[in-house]
This record gives sequence, C-alpha cells and structure tokens, in this order.
Amino acid sequence: MALKSINPTSTQAWKKLEKHYEEFKNVSLRDLFANDINRFQTHHIQFNDLLIDYSKNRVNDTTLALLFELATECGLQEAIEKQFSGDVINATENRAVLHTALRNRKNSPVLVDGKDVMPDVNAVLSQMKAFSAQVISGEWKGFSGKEITDVVNIGIGGSDLGPYMVCEALKHYKTRLNLHFVSNVDGAHLAETVKTLNPETTLFIIASKTFTTQETMSNALSARDWFLNIAKDNAAVAKHFVALSTNKTKVTEFGIDENNMFGFWDWVGGRYSLWSAIGLSICLSVGFEKFEELLSGAHAMDEHFKTADFSKNIPVVLALLGIWYNNFFGAESHALLPYDQYLHRFAAYFQQGDMESNGKYVDRSGNKVSYQTGPIIWGEPGTNGQHAFYQLIHQGTKLIPADFLAAAQPLNDMGDHHEKLLSNFFAQTEALAFGKTEKDVRDEFLGSGKSQEEIDFITPYKVFEGNRPTNSIIYKRLTPFNLGALLAMYEQKIYVQGVIWNIFSFDQWGVELGKQLANVILPELKSSDKITSHDSSTNGLINAWKEMR
Ligand code: F6P
Repeated sequence: MALKSINPTSTQAWKKLEKHYEEFKNVSLRDLFANDINRFQTHHIQFNDLLIDYSKNRVNDTTLALLFELATECGLQEAIEKQFSGDVINATENRAVLHTALRNRKNSPVLVDGKDVMPDVNAVLSQMKAFSAQVISGEWKGFSGKEITDVVNIGIGGSDLGPYMVCEALKHYKTRLNLHFVSNVDGAHLAETVKTLNPETTLFIIASKTFTTQETMSNALSARDWFLNIAKDNAAVAKHFVALSTNKTKVTEFGIDENNMFGFWDWVGGRYSLWSAIGLSICLSVGFEKFEELLSGAHAMDEHFKTADFSKNIPVVLALLGIWYNNFFGAESHALLPYDQYLHRFAAYFQQGDMESNGKYVDRSGNKVSYQTGPIIWGEPGTNGQHAFYQLIHQGTKLIPADFLAAAQPLNDMGDHHEKLLSNFFAQTEALAFGKTEKDVRDEFLGSGKSQEEIDFITPYKVFEGNRPTNSIIYKRLTPFNLGALLAMYEQKIYVQGVIWNIFSFDQWGVELGKQLANVILPELKSSDKITSHDSSTNGLINAWKEMR
C-alpha cells in the first residue's frame, strides 16, 4: 500500500508550531543556554561511535514536542514500516524502495511481490567479492597478461557520486588499485583521465542503472574506442569492461559479456545505489571486507531508525529540526560542513541525495504544495570553507542551518593538525551560536589607544548577532562502519522530511525535460541548417554557436 497523503499544514501540530514560532522566534541560543546548564546533556544522542549534539538549535521542549507531534500526525511510524517492508512507496514509478535490503546484514527475508530478495542480493555480493579479490590480487589479467593497476568507473549521478564519495572518504584503506571516476559528457573528463593510463592495465566499470544514460553511454563507447585502438581485438573487451546495471539487454547489446555484469533491481533508486553492485568500485578500492563493514554501519543505523523513539531517533530529530528552519524560519538552504578532508565529496553526494529526492512541488495527492519542501544543500570541508563562505553564515542576512561533522580520532598522525582542526570545529559552532555582543567588542578596544570616534565607527561591523543554529556530529574515527552509519543517517533524514512534506522522495521526473530537449537539440547541432524551431533566445544561441565554432 502506498504512503498516505496528509497535508502537513492541515495538522494540529503544524498550526501549533506556527503559533509557537511567533512566540519563540526571537529567543536566543544565549538565553536557552543561560537558562539550562544541562542543555548539552539533554540535547545530544549517542549511538555506537556517533555523537549528535543538537543543543545549539533554536528549540525548546515545546518546539521539540510539537515537532514530534507533527511527525506522528503525518503518519511517520507507518511510513518507516512501509519503507522497510517493501511497500510500493515510490508510487509514481510503481516501485518498492529497498536500498535497506542491500545492507540487511541480518539477512532476514525482505519480500517484493511475495518473493524474498535476499538470495539475489547475496548472490551479487558474492560475485562482487570474488571479482574484487581476483582483480586486487592480480589474478585477473588484462589482454596482454598484465595485472590491472587502474580502474575507471564510468557513470553519472547516483552511478558516480556515491562510489566516488566513498572511495575518497575511505582512501586511507586503499588497496593497490588506483580508482578514477569519469562522469561528464564533456570529452575533457575522459580525455584527461585516460591520458596517464595504459589500456593493458586498465579496467573500465560501466555503471548505469538504465544503461541508456547519454553521458555514460558516450563515455563508455569512447573508452572502448580508446581501448581497442591499442588492444585491436574485440575479444579483449571482456578482460577490461564490466557493467553494473539493471538492464541485461542493453549491457549485452553494448558488447559486455553477461558474466561480466553485476546486476541490481528497479527497487534500488539511483541516488541510493552505492550499496548495490554500483559499489563495485568501492570493493576494488578498499576490498570487499571494508565494503561489508560499510553495509554493516548503514544497517545498524537502519535498525536504530526503525526502533528508536522519535525523541532519541537521530534521523528523525535531524529531519524535524530541518523542517523547523525550512518551514517556519524560512531558511532556504542547509550546509554540510565536514571537518574531514576525506569527506570532501560528502556535500556533493548529498546534493543529489537530498535535492533530487525532496526538490518537488507536487504532493502525494497530485496538488501543488503551499509550503516549502527540500532545501538547497551545499558545503565544503572545514577549514577551507571558513576562508571562503563562512562570512555570510556569520554575518549575512540569511539564516543557514549547518551540520558540522568531524572525527574524534584522525587517520593520520601529524603533529597537532587534528587539535587545530577540531579547535576550529568547536570554535565555529560556538561563534555561530553565541556571536559577539556590542559590549564585548567595545571592551576589547579598552586600552587600544583608538579614539572614541574610531571605536564607534568600527563597532557595528565587529558585532556578531549569533543565534545561527548548528548540529555537531562527531564520529570516533572515519571507519567504513561509521561512514555507512553516517550515510544511512542522512538518507533516512531525507526520507522523514519527504514523508512529512507529503511528497514522493524516490522519483526524479524533474530531470527529464532537460534530457528530452537535449535529444531534440542534438541533431539540430549536427545539421548545418539555420535553427528556427525554438524561442528567439534558444534559436539565437544555437545559430550564434554555429557561427562561432
Ligand atoms: O539524473 C537523473 C538520473 O536518473 C539519476 O537519478 C541517476 O542517478 C542518474 O540519472 C544516472 O542514471 P543511470 O544510473 O541509469 O545511468
């Protein structure tokens, strides 16, 4: 059965939250902390190696109680159960959503149309295990008998961002293989990647759920040309090209042997697919055991999400805080700020995860929503971001809720780098929450020798209002297990928000129109005719391009 359609603004809790917002909107974090010396104690959740501190949020007990009431009124508990039990919650594509089955380490049956999917899931995992072991050990040889040294994953969107992000995040655990990722149809991406590679020792992974995506197919064909230019023998392709897909027909049409195909299923969404065969590049990069640890971490978070009370449920709490800012304070974006260089692709990954999931304006009854849905997700690793865009977070006119993430223990011992990194991590959330008052600024000038006029001039620029909300997320160490837990935490947060916003989080019709129009325009670019079939801007641009090229 599909998810219920409940307009969140029609709930009692929403109305109470609106009223509460009017009374509460000017309360400061300074006051909240001053009035409750135990605020950290009561506003953090610890789960395995993760600590989530949400005390620096503009909420009190009433806010939280009303947000939990909202979740209950919107049928969240039932929606959670439906996700895990394989209900058709992706109604517009008539599909179940079961990336959780891919990481179901307890191996309990998961039924789709009455059939347990776990035997198939486990069979593909075994195939991935055997293949990655062969390639890593050097037993798998290229056409000229040499070991594989480099692996190029060709894919885009969910078939690129997830595996790329994880391979970067887990670089510390790397095998001898060098991983490369090619996604953009801009020929520069493939050309620059293969420049330093040897076709004899390169393995291409063609990763595409549909095996029809223009960018991926174009890059795959060009990669094959590059390869055959040296190998000269079509039979050699079998040693150097494997496919990750749900589409066996297209894979074999491309010329990839069925035995070199790693399958998955339509109940795995593209942006939730790193847990599936799409994770093969991760297995090659860090070894299958580490991939299994990643799955285990995600599974542990899934179990927590399924069973914990809303008030202690990490994805639920994070999701509701996001709704509070998005729908009541009018915040338009949410920043992900990992103080961890290994997570430098984390925000990019969740841009797709969140924005492709919850960037929707039609609700589950087919009506246009009258409230805000998914936020703009953005971010860069700290401390780099501090020297780039933090000025606006501290003193700009926009409210930007942010998640700060950091590892308690570094993976590289290097002098006091980690203490320095973390001193910035702690300092930023403190500064954002509590700011700097006019009195503090003026006190700092005492004895500085500056004139009163100079002090009066500069003071307003040096005041920080504070009251900028943040979550601090500390994980003990960036292990595959902890990374898996973090990723599942955000995935489930996105789900909770989509449920409450009453939208379908697992389709992505919004990306289709541009693709369709590009297919119309491509032949026009290839013809020498003057183009008149579009609006004057599009015609003008295409015709100008024809002159300029
Ligand atoms: O951008 C749209 C999209 O369908 C994503 O959802 C998906 O991750 C990506 O394209 C790639 O699709 P495929 O894996 O089928 O090539």
